[in-house]
Amino acid sequence: MDQKYEDFKRLVKENSDIVEIISGYVTLQKKGRYYWACCPFHGEKTPSFSVDKERQFFYCYGCHTGGDVFTFVEKIENSTFAEAIKTLASRANIPIPESHRTAADIQKEEKRKEMYSVNELASRYFSACLHKTDFGKKVLSYLHNRGITDETIEQFSLGAALPGFHSLQKNLQKKGVSSEHLSDAGLIRGTGGNFRDMFIGRVMIPIKDPKGRVIAFGGRVMDDGLPKYLNTGETVVFQKRETLFGLDVAIKAIREAKEAIVVEGYMDAISLHAAGIVRTVASLGTAFSEQHAKLLHRITETVVFAYDSDDAGRRNAARAVSIAKREGLFVKVLNVPEGKDPDEYVRKFGRDAFESLVKNAWNGTEFQIRYTISKNNVSELAGKVQCVSNIIPYLKECRNEIEAASYIKFLSQQLVIDEALIMGEYRKAAAQAFSGRKESVSSEMPVQSAPNALVQAERNLLLLLFTYPGMIIRYKEILLQTGFLSSARQNIFEQICKMDNPSLDTIRDTLFATGDEAIRSETAGIFTSGEIAPDEESRVQLADDCIRRMRRNYLQQEYESHRHLAETYACMNDARYVEELKICNELRGKITDLYGN
Ligand code: UTP
Ligand code: MN
Repeated sequence: MDQKYEDFKRLVKENSDIVEIISGYVTLQKKGRYYWACCPFHGEKTPSFSVDKERQFFYCYGCHTGGDVFTFVEKIENSTFAEAIKTLASRANIPIPESHRTAADIQKEEKRKEMYSVNELASRYFSACLHKTDFGKKVLSYLHNRGITDETIEQFSLGAALPGFHSLQKNLQKKGVSSEHLSDAGLIRGTGGNFRDMFIGRVMIPIKDPKGRVIAFGGRVMDDGLPKYLNTGETVVFQKRETLFGLDVAIKAIREAKEAIVVEGYMDAISLHAAGIVRTVASLGTAFSEQHAKLLHRITETVVFAYDSDDAGRRNAARAVSIAKREGLFVKVLNVPEGKDPDEYVRKFGRDAFESLVKNAWNGTEFQIRYTISKNNVSELAGKVQCVSNIIPYLKECRNEIEAASYIKFLSQQLVIDEALIMGEYRKAAAQAFSGRKESVSSEMPVQSAPNALVQAERNLLLLLFTYPGMIIRYKEILLQTGFLSSARQNIFEQICKMDNPSLDTIRDTLFATGDEAIRSETAGIFTSGEIAPDEESRVQLADDCIRRMRRNYLQQEYESHRHLAETYACMNDARYVEELKICNELRGKITDLYGN
């Protein structure tokens, strides 16, 4: 076995949380231990697709598709197993081992490397222009005027793009960079011989990935020219929705403070850093995305939105709060007074004043409620009704019912409406959201597609044996004789019998490593099938119960076939029918024995 590749696979798996990956494709809802959704692999209106975060499996009770994160990507992307691993690897920024790189992979990686290096060269060039040219002096004093210190300029590698049409292109070409690469990196535009620099006469702000590699640029004019900012378009190394400006310098402080401040603009982020508030990142004009929320959730639990206090800023904040809440983050919204943006505010009132705004920030849902109230005419009944229905979706995003209930109370006080009425509306909406129809689903497993009792018993038993492999030896013989209903489960059992005192992880990995689709999907079904009994006594009892069910089924089938044989012999006047009837009687006795006398 290729150890390196195995290590690679494990690393990719460890860095690809199944809930996170799947929620990139379908909207999951947590109910009890599992996350649920309508299955993306077959048409359905009530969710029977479950994801087990703890065990990192998914399973659909409707179409019986199941597996681990690799299987999911393989199926949803309609790709091969190897491709699925690569997709997840590149998402997690894990390099593919050389032995497994195809020509296309090598090309892709080369391309990325090339883009990093072109961007780095450009950043150094812009920085040199800032410090060594006359135009640079103007940019420098612009930055200083905005309260940005040399230290911050250094930290963010700020620069200047000269006013000429070809200065960057010429300079980088001298260093051997081709027009093609410059164009691919979004640094020049045009076609054929008609290239010109993308950024001309602007303050240059490099955008870096969390590792500090330059992946794109924003360029600001120094007057009222339009557009105010020009940004690099999407490239192989830059996806806006996945990038948070300043994360490379803020990441440590965010971890330490267990809190991230999210602003809208480059200048807000730079200014807050300059003021010493370094747990700040910016979402860069584009709306705060699910990916942004996930990125932050990996390093912190709390996010504070400090958006502009104008109408657009507040609308964006209300939307951003929803996204962060759905990701499970704890969310606050800071209220910047006097219509200022965070940059202006911190420059005027200083760090401590800003920190006290953070301390007094509203909880995300409270902000959403206050914002919605301010947008409706709540002095009239119609406005109140509209307001409540606009707020209900925000309540549904709350972490739990208790939180939702406390905001319902708050809302009822604000609007002077009976709390019970709002609660009623909320309940109705919450029930509909999950079932997609009128009837509400409260049990974890949709009843109509639940596996029958015997299948369930076999799965429970296997899960028990997976978890306590020491029990295998005790039941091996009887189970090999009795057999399992499906060949997949039979196969799984035979495989675990062959293992020498395996751990749960070994069992899981071995079963998933088999190329057999049925085994993989059944394994997932087993892992999502139920709870494990807590103590020895109840484990043995559970095993006995399951085996009894299996035995009864086995014996009944044996009985049926011998009875059939007996009848056939009897018709043919064959004396062997006596023998068969005897067997039938014995089997009957065994079946009644199963349940004691
Ligand atoms: P702002 O207009 O609030 O920018 O837009 P700002 O960062 O506060 O800049 P200053 O203070 O006027 O210098 C917020 C963000 O929206 C994006 C930029 O990322 C900006 O930081 N934006 C804005 C653009 O990409 N292009 C634009 O023309 C304007
Ligand atoms: Mn601003």
